[in-house]
Parts: sequence; C-alpha cells; structure tokens
Amino acid sequence: MKLLVTRPIPEEAVARLRAEPGVDTTMLEEDAAMDRGLLLDAAADADVILALLTERVDAELFDRSPDLRMVANMAVGFDNVDIDEAAVRGIWVTNTPGVLDGATADLAMALLLAAARRLPESERFLRAGRYKRWGPMLLCGQEVHGRTLGILGMGRIGEAVARRARLGFGMEILYWDERGRADLEEELGVRRTDLDTLLGAADFVSIHLPLTEGTAGLIDAERLGRMKPTAVLVNTARGPIVDEGALAAALRSGAIWAAGLDVFEREPEVHPDLIELDNAVLLPHIASASIPTRLAMAELAVSNVLALHRGEDPPTPVVRGTR
Ligand code: GLV
Repeated sequence: MKLLVTRPIPEEAVARLRAEPGVDTTMLEEDAAMDRGLLLDAAADADVILALLTERVDAELFDRSPDLRMVANMAVGFDNVDIDEAAVRGIWVTNTPGVLDGATADLAMALLLAAARRLPESERFLRAGRYKRWGPMLLCGQEVHGRTLGILGMGRIGEAVARRARLGFGMEILYWDERGRADLEEELGVRRTDLDTLLGAADFVSIHLPLTEGTAGLIDAERLGRMKPTAVLVNTARGPIVDEGALAAALRSGAIWAAGLDVFEREPEVHPDLIELDNAVLLPHIASASIPTRLAMAELAVSNVLALHRGEDPPTPVVRGTR
C-alpha cells in the first residue's frame, strides 16, 4: 500500500505506519502540500492519502490518483473533502470524531471567557504600559456564570460545551439542532428552541455545527441583528458559517458585544476589519491543538489506514468505500 501523508503529523503515529509491513509511507515536508501541483503529483500513485483540513481533496485530485482507495482526514470536519465524489468512485473517507471533543470544548469556553471578560484587550493594555492605576470601571466586561448560553449544534462537541457551561458555570443552556437531545434535557436541563428564539434569548452563542450547504452563511447580518447588544458570539466550528463582514460590522456598531473566533471564512486570511477590533478575540484555528489531542487524532487517522490495509473495517468512516 502506498500511503501519502500530506504534512508532518505526530511522530508516534507515523512510527505505527512505518512499523506496518507492506505500507510504504511518504510524508511530505511542511510546506509541500500547500503547492497544489506538488500535492497532486505526490498523490498520483497513492492508494491512501492521510490528509489535513488544509488540503482540498476533490474530483481533480481523484482524477489524478486512479488507485486511490481511502482519504483518511485528520480532522473531525471533512468539508475539505468532496464526499459525494468520493462516494461515486467508491473511495473511503474517514475522519477523527470523538477524540477532540474535550479539547475543542475547553477552547470554546476559553474564547467565551476571554471575549466576555476582555482578556486579550486587557493584556494588550498592560503590555502597552497603560496600566497606571487600578480603577473601578477599568476594563469591565460581561458576566459569565449564571447567564444563558445558546448552543448551535448539540452533537458531541456541543454537548461537551454544555456540560462545562452548566456544571462549571451554572449557565442556562438553550440549543438548536435538528435532532432533539432528550437525554441532555433530562440530565442537564438544556432546552431546545428554534434559531430566532435562541439568538434573541442567549447571552452567549457558541457554534458547533458542521459546514454544509445548509449552514454556510447561517449567521448573517439579519441573525446577528436578533442577538442582544450584550451578547458574545463564539465560533470554533467553521468560519463560513458566519458572514465575517456582517460580524465585523455588528462588532463595530455595538449590535453585539464581542466575538471569540478560532475559525475564519478564508483561512488563513482574517477579515481586516476584525483585526482592528478590540472586541474580537482571534485565534489561528487551535481548538483541538493540545498535544494529547493532536496525537489522538493522528492515531485515529492511522488506525483507519491500518484497518484498510489489514482488510478490517475502518473505525470511523464518513463514506464507506468499495475499493
Ligand atoms: C478541526 O477543525 C477539525 O475539524 O478537526
């Protein structure tokens, strides 16, 4: 089996690949896959590609890689992979669900707290030498504990955020999801609402939806306009779910209080208006970036590859292949 790993991933996981007899692993240097031509050339004779979310895996790549049997995406999101095209061609697609829920939920809470309590802005203030005297009104923000959190998408990560917010911060939880979660309604007292009700009632809105045709542009100017002027928007899911220009305008005008963003519409670009705004907390897509979690993601991607090689069922398929 010829395996292409598109960028360096944690060494412990690569060691398992190299130890497997019959797997011939090529791992590209850090920047190589960013060059589309190089990526397509490197993938041309691959049976399996272990890809990151930075790689667009589409019909063009499938055309150029006639032997391809599997795309093992090292991410829970798979909007970088054309899964319809993969399904038509019988190519397996796998992702890494479950292992990054805790790390992502931790970071969503960190962004929520940082935006509400103005942490990066306060730190910039101090480092700029502007902290001359304590003040009763200095850098006051929004209360977090006991407030209402609206969760868009109550899947595994949404649930992990709900647990933290409810059990750690005593927050009331509303959620919007096509699927009801009677288990969590019973256990945590979370309540399901329609989107407009949630946006109007929540002090914090945190997005935990996949990027699909149905969710792209979901949070637009009109929906931002339904939120409270004291509200904070958190996005650790995918950037294109939020209209970034509309969000920057809402933050500038005070239509909402602040935003905490780990993802952007056109990564690694960030809307220049957001960079200017003190009430936007901006991170470079690091929600799952704890050392153990990134290792677990790599291990799961590798387990999918090794299962295919051994003729076993890949543990976390998105598309079941026929090759
Ligand atoms: C990261 O964004 C992931 O989808 O795992």
